[in-house]
Amino acid sequence: MAASAPRQTLTIRTPDDWHVHLRDGALLQAVVGHTAAQFARAIVMPNLKPPITTVAQASAYRERIRQALERSAGTEAASGFTPLMTAYLTETIAPDELERGFAAGVFTAAKLYPAGATTNSDAGVRDLAHITPVLTCMERIGMPLLIHGEVTDPAVDIFDREAVFIERHLKPLLERHPALKVVLEHITTAEAVQFVEAGPSNLGATITPHHLHINRNALFQGGLRPDMYCLPVAKRELHRLALRKAATSGNPKFFLGTDSAPHLRHAKESSCGCAGIYNAPYALESYAQVFSEENAIDQLEAFASLNGPRFYGLPLNQGSVTLERRDPDPEAPGLPAILELANGTAEPSRLVPFHAGEQLDWHITARNR
Ligand code: NCD
Ligand code: ZN
Repeated sequence: MAASAPRQTLTIRTPDDWHVHLRDGALLQAVVGHTAAQFARAIVMPNLKPPITTVAQASAYRERIRQALERSAGTEAASGFTPLMTAYLTETIAPDELERGFAAGVFTAAKLYPAGATTNSDAGVRDLAHITPVLTCMERIGMPLLIHGEVTDPAVDIFDREAVFIERHLKPLLERHPALKVVLEHITTAEAVQFVEAGPSNLGATITPHHLHINRNALFQGGLRPDMYCLPVAKRELHRLALRKAATSGNPKFFLGTDSAPHLRHAKESSCGCAGIYNAPYALESYAQVFSEENAIDQLEAFASLNGPRFYGLPLNQGSVTLERRDPDPEAPGLPAILELANGTAEPSRLVPFHAGEQLDWHITARNR
């Protein structure tokens, strides 16, 4: 028998997820435990139906998240996880509402969806000029603006929508609001990496695990693969490589945001399948795999646990998570092809996780809260 490589272990400060979709109702109860098992805090996206646009809605949603977690994972899990709430920017939202929610610690940030860009974005913003007072207020109070950076112009090729957004909208926006804290969410292109690197320190970006693992070929591997479809859609290999370089570089502007976006299996496997990849179950292991492949496992803690809180001006987590690298076992079964998650109803929620059927080298072995 060949000698196996020595096991490698890594202990890092407990990470946070700076971009996640936890949904609501039964699906919330099914998925929230996966995020809370790995992360101490998470920036919760507001694209519910109807969207979260008021302080009252955000407080009520935060309470539903706590209750769902308590029901699915117990009181200790619920007390060890802090959902950070966001406001969904519409063209009619009042600056006062944001300021009041931010001051009360209910809103941590506000999310800009260009209308029509993605799931439940119809109530989003059609023209950035219409929300100038909102952005001016956020700039003044130091409230971060989280951007889904894609143009919705149907004349623009879907693979170019992020790069065009940067030129047409993000550059002018930063010129108009030079002190606004901006996070370009789930970046997918070399252009975004370059723009963020060259930008001021109040500009950051999140990077998902899936955009570090797959390029657009994954959507068509042997047939149409709805489980690899998300927005912004995965791009060419050169972009994936630029993202891997950025994430593992140690540059404090880049941090972890899974964009875990669960849609039930039947909604993905349809003639018009929903956009979103459910990566929460193995998110940290997925990132660790990338960092170790890039010989940069020592940079995982900065990306996962330090850069995000520093950008947001929040304290670092006190706890830790330990991961262990084991050689893949050719005999071992892969990760489940499908998860059937209890959700408080008679029917479990059926979801296909990212990395279904694969093996990952890194495993979480301990967590100290
Ligand atoms: C997200 C969703 O399903 O809510 N989908 C996705 O593909 N990422 C919305 C989003 O973040 O664009
Ligand atoms: Zn998202």
